Parts: sequence; structure tokens; C-alpha cells
Amino acid sequence: MRSFLVTDAVRDYAVAHGSWRPDEVVHRLREETAALGEVAGMQIGDGQGQLLTMLARMVGARRAVEVGTFTGYSSLCIARGLAEGGSLLCCDINEDWTAIGVRAWQRAGLRDRIDLRIAPALQTLSTLPADPYLDLVFIDADKPRYADYWEELVPRTRPGGVLVADNVLWSGQIADDDSTDDNVLALRAFNDRVATDRRVDVVMLPAFDGLTIARKL
Ligand SMILES: C[S@@+](CC[C@H](N)C(=O)[O-])C[C@H]1O[C@@H](n2cnc3c(N)ncnc32)[C@H](O)[C@@H]1O
Repeated sequence: MRSFLVTDAVRDYAVAHGSWRPDEVVHRLREETAALGEVAGMQIGDGQGQLLTMLARMVGARRAVEVGTFTGYSSLCIARGLAEGGSLLCCDINEDWTAIGVRAWQRAGLRDRIDLRIAPALQTLSTLPADPYLDLVFIDADKPRYADYWEELVPRTRPGGVLVADNVLWSGQIADDDSTDDNVLALRAFNDRVATDRRVDVVMLPAFDGLTIARKL
């Protein structure tokens, strides 16, 4: 087994060797997000965006849910991978950040495919139909509630559907016993729960900030 530190140059090389290219909508969205300052670091990177689009296409996603939208980049990537007639439900609590996303979705011609709900995500998720109708789920909001989002969303995901959770390695702190940050503790509990959840097959990628990809059985 070989692994190595992924430098910015390696990451850019990998992105450049995928088929996705950033367009004007993405450039503008990145600029508007960067102007927000430090919080811009919450936005997923281009490699992860490519992967979300690819996953949406691979599962033929018609019904998708995102928990944690911020300025709308990950949702743009998911929406671009939706099948004909597909839609994405986005959950967030911040109107200012998501307003940036709404403008990007409009520019991309995707606004009518995205249903943005401004409310605590648990409140929104609890109102969704109980049937297993979701094809794709992306969890990227407040870490202490990941396990609650998981419990709302696994039963609503169809067999063969995919759930993705971001930041599960938390900059590597997850495996550092000295790290007792609240987010780390919550993510450790979440990761343990997912790893033993018999309703799904799981792979955790030590890529990006750690990405769990689970397939509903
Ligand atoms: C890491 S950011 C999401 C980044 C986004 N997926 C992207 O790639 O651009 C986390 C988001 O979760 C939202 N959030 C935090 N707590 C929440 C809650 N209880 N319900 C819904 N959204 C929440 C924040 O407002 C923030 O926009």
C-alpha cells in the first residue's frame, strides 16, 4: 500500500484530468464566496464537486437531498448531475449565504430544479415522506447533528441509493487521541455508527477532508 501527501499541485493535476471544467458560473460563485473571508473554507473543492456530479449521474438521481448548502456550490454540482426531471432539496439556516447560491443556480439555469428550505435541517427532514424515495443524499452541515441527519435520511433512501457525508476525518484529527474537540467527538460517534450500520455498505475515502460514501442495501 502506498499513500502520500496530496499537495495543491497534485490536487489541481487530478482535477485537470477529470472531464469537468469550471465555467463562468463556477468562477463567479467561487469569487463571491471567497469575498466572504474565512468562512469560504467551508465550500467543497472542485475534485469533490466533480465526484458529486459523477455520483448523481451514476445513480441516475431524480430525488436528492443536501444538508448544508452554504453558497450553493455542492448543490450546483449535484443539480448538474441530476437525471431529466430530477430535483434537489437543499437545507440550510443562513439566508445570506444561500442567496449567493440562488443567484448561481439561476445563472446556471437550474433554479427550478432546486427547492431551498431555510430552517434547521432536522425540522425540514422530518416533514419529508417516510418512503424510501431518495437516490442521493449529501450531508455537510453542523457535525454534532450528523447522526440525527443520518437517521432521518437512511430510511428515506431507496435500495441502491447513495449517502455521502463530508469532513468525516476532520483534518486528520479524528485519529488523534489527544483531540477532544466537540466536532471530533461527534464525528467519531457518527463514523462508528455508520461503520456498523447494517442498512448500508460503506467506504470512507481518506480524500478531501474525509468522505464517507454509503450505499443503501
Ligand atoms: C460546510 S457548510 C456547507 C458547504 C456546502 N456544502 C458547499 O460545499 O458549499 C455548512 C452549512 O451548514 C449550515 N448549517 C449549520 N447548521 C445547520 C442546521 N442546523 N440546519 C441546516 N443547515 C445548517 C450552515 O449555515 C452552512 O451553510
